[in-house]
Amino acid sequence: MKEIGVYIHIPFCRQKCYYCDFCSLVSNEDIYKQYINCLLSEIENYKIKLINLPHEWHEEKLIVKTIYIGGGTPSIINDEYIVDIIRKIKEKFTVDENAEITIEVNPGTITEKKLHSYYDAGINRISIGLQTTNDKLLKVIGRIHNFNEFENAYKLAKSVGFSNINVDLMIGLPTQTIVDVEQSLNQIINKNPKHISVYSLILEENTILEKKIRSGELVLPNENDERAMYWKVKNILEKNGYSQYEISNFSLKGYESKHNTDCWNQKEYLGFGLAAHSYYNNIRFSNLCNLDDYLGNIKKEDFCSNIQIHEVQKSEDKMNEYVILKLRTMQGVNFQIFKKIFKIDFMKKYKSKVEKLVKQGLIEISDYGVRLSIKGIDFANVVWCEFV
Ligand SMILES: C[S@@+](CC[C@H](N)C(=O)[O-])C[C@H]1O[C@@H](n2cnc3c(N)ncnc32)[C@H](O)[C@@H]1O
Ligand code: SF4
Repeated sequence: MKEIGVYIHIPFCRQKCYYCDFCSLVSNEDIYKQYINCLLSEIENYKIKLINLPHEWHEEKLIVKTIYIGGGTPSIINDEYIVDIIRKIKEKFTVDENAEITIEVNPGTITEKKLHSYYDAGINRISIGLQTTNDKLLKVIGRIHNFNEFENAYKLAKSVGFSNINVDLMIGLPTQTIVDVEQSLNQIINKNPKHISVYSLILEENTILEKKIRSGELVLPNENDERAMYWKVKNILEKNGYSQYEISNFSLKGYESKHNTDCWNQKEYLGFGLAAHSYYNNIRFSNLCNLDDYLGNIKKEDFCSNIQIHEVQKSEDKMNEYVILKLRTMQGVNFQIFKKIFKIDFMKKYKSKVEKLVKQGLIEISDYGVRLSIKGIDFANVVWCEFV
């Protein structure tokens, strides 16, 4: 018996936000329908993919502990498709009765009917993309909705019965000020969501935003201002009872996302759909991000040509990756747990690296383990690179 997570990718959006380079595109109902049929077929035939991975195949009973329907914008498609996907997962796997089942939604695409269908299908966590409560700024970054539409979506989700709601916010956006950030946070905290994710903008190549910045049409806050926004966020959220459990994630007690926590604990998961990533039997692999190829291969019942293998981990790779993943979390690496998993003493294995990072003030060490220091949170990339 093996516990796993399941990730489902819905790669469609009403309009591409200017900053976003996720694998998603603007499409139409005919393509949605074809895509869902292929996705269902991929789940139906998941064993064919696993058998063909470069490892010894053993049939094992898989228990699904979390399902995450992400995108793209899962709420853009007909809600019956989401119900079909959950039905298919339940048909092919044993889904734990307490499984966390999340769907990402965009406020510009949500209706009461869709929310009812999600609830009835067993979805118990909603993640709403908002980014900021400032309508002008929402326009600057190419979002399809305003704050009022978010408020309606949030209210609807609560009235339908969803109590576990996450809101995504962003900092470091063009024209954004620290006052904007403070205002966004206060307006969201007032609604009392169980979870808030706050992402620092990553300026991705070939996005509309990158072109606007390069041409001088828009300007980003400087690094000091962006860091000041980050610390402001952390401060306000912690004062209001949200504890930070990862660089970008905050929650009320007991509402940490199980799906994300499992990923940072290096637990296994299977991804279905365009560009969906998987981690199984020490192999990291994903589907390619080309919709025509994806659909074409599945229609030919060729379930393997979509797969791209990224890494077949040896124990050394696995250990290094574990350390990097745990150093994203505020808890860090626990010596006892590390020893239990890898049968080796963490400090013996990483003594020189740890000493170097402690000297630089980037990590702190205790009797229990190591974790990022306050300074290390601002230079987390430097810390992670040490273990690559
Ligand atoms: C798949 S989207 C959430 C659902 C829906 N697509 C939406 O945007 O409303 C996941 C989140 O990733 C974050 N994100 C996307 N692109 C980003 C970037 N370039 N830098 C930082 N965060 C980003 C946004 O906060 C976004 O809400
Ligand atoms: S709606 Fe979400 S996935 Fe789609 S482009 Fe915007 S941020 Fe990216």
